[in-house]
Amino acid sequence: MNTVVLGLQWGDEGKGKTIDYLAHDFDVVVRYQGGHNAGHTIYFEGKKVVLHLLPSGIFSPNTISVIGNGVVVNPVQLVEEIEGIKAQGFSLEKLEISDYCPLILPVHQQLDIIFEDSRYVKIGTTRRGIGPAYEDLTGRRAVFVNDLFDKDRFYKKAKPLNDYYNQRIKTSGGEEVSIDSYIDQYMEVGKALKKYARNTVYTLNKYAREGKKMLFEGAQGVLLDINFGTYPFVTSSNPTVGGICTGTGLSHKAIGKVIGISKAYTTRVGGGPFPSELLDKTGDYLREKGNEYGATTGRPRRVGWLDLVALKYALMINGVDSIFLTKLDVLDSFDEINAVVAYKTNDGNTGEIFDPSIEYLGEVTPVLKSFQGWKQETSSVRQFGQLPQKAKDYIEFIREFTGVPIEFISVGTERYQTIKI
Ligand code: GDP
Ligand code: IMO
Ligand code: MG
Repeated sequence: MNTVVLGLQWGDEGKGKTIDYLAHDFDVVVRYQGGHNAGHTIYFEGKKVVLHLLPSGIFSPNTISVIGNGVVVNPVQLVEEIEGIKAQGFSLEKLEISDYCPLILPVHQQLDIIFEDSRYVKIGTTRRGIGPAYEDLTGRRAVFVNDLFDKDRFYKKAKPLNDYYNQRIKTSGGEEVSIDSYIDQYMEVGKALKKYARNTVYTLNKYAREGKKMLFEGAQGVLLDINFGTYPFVTSSNPTVGGICTGTGLSHKAIGKVIGISKAYTTRVGGGPFPSELLDKTGDYLREKGNEYGATTGRPRRVGWLDLVALKYALMINGVDSIFLTKLDVLDSFDEINAVVAYKTNDGNTGEIFDPSIEYLGEVTPVLKSFQGWKQETSSVRQFGQLPQKAKDYIEFIREFTGVPIEFISVGTERYQTIKI
């Protein structure tokens, strides 16, 4: 069955690892939204690789990798990533890039920096130009991958954008970008991308008709979704399941099973409400144990306990069939583990509503349930039955509270450090 793998929290749930683990059972792996704000880490044959735009199935040799039309592409970054992977001896012959991906232009990155720096409350974006590029898509003035293959056409579309945004950049004291400074480079990378460019709406629908099994790889996470996340502290796309139809051209009938990934605790990079955040020594300890530093920007991630109220919301709006619980091993040495089971609001009420607004979520007090730590190493466990009883109790509580089965548990960075229940 076609399967979606998406992050249930604020990103970095371990999508790279889990997709690499699952990919060998699929013919096609498809990215459907986001851009190189994503950083998906895979440990393959002892080596660490961080993918930003390439789908995480590229290490399964028979898998077709597709970058769907919902992904915003910085073509220079993409070619760099392709070359880097090829230099490590991997074939990318089966890579397809939608010729309808909106491009991230140098002005977009400048604008991202200017908007961010001028905000009273910072979102903490990755400063990669993601938001401004999606703005141009909805503004009906985007430049696409297929515009890279014709210099006059590219110039005609990109020049007015460039001129318009340079006014804005100038007013803010930012660095103006001349189109002449990058057009030749964009044409060069266009040549390198041409062999991969396809009308992926048709190729993907053909694969669907042929019965090829597809795995859809979400970037970011549900709580960063532009419509359902903690707005304005979100990204500018739909990591949620709805993003698949708009980001691939496949109908809802192509979406089979939905697997949601959640860490056994929670992290977040950038600003925004985070009710279960740990700002104390326990948080510092969790950050170090989990090596919680951004795969894209290197920023220390904010850390906290697993928030089951937020998780239930994410499961609900995506129709999640099963959970892939990651980083259980990170909790191995804790005496006590907590999870949020309700929110207390300022009017004294306690409930399980996750309203993503800053006015609500920024004000609630989390109600915690405490669990005894198992104080035992789990990274070498491969069967559920071999986990310490207290770890099983924690997992069973998550299942019971959410009503969604836990199908996989990850206990380390490597593909094989995975328990299938
Ligand atoms: P993604 O963006 O969802 O792909 O996640 P990232 O790659 O940004 O961050 C997840 C980090 O956790 C990476 O460094 C992974 O190698 C690591 N990781 C994934 N699963 C596990 C696990 O089960 N245990 C441990 N200790 N690390 C893990
Ligand atoms: P993966 O796919 C974690 C966060 C940024 C910021 C907000 C908006 O690796 O899980 P943007 O640059 O997208 O406009 O930033 O979203 N963010 C991520 N956080 N993981 C990611 O991707 C993220 N991509 C964006 O930190 O708070
Ligand atoms: Mg990441």
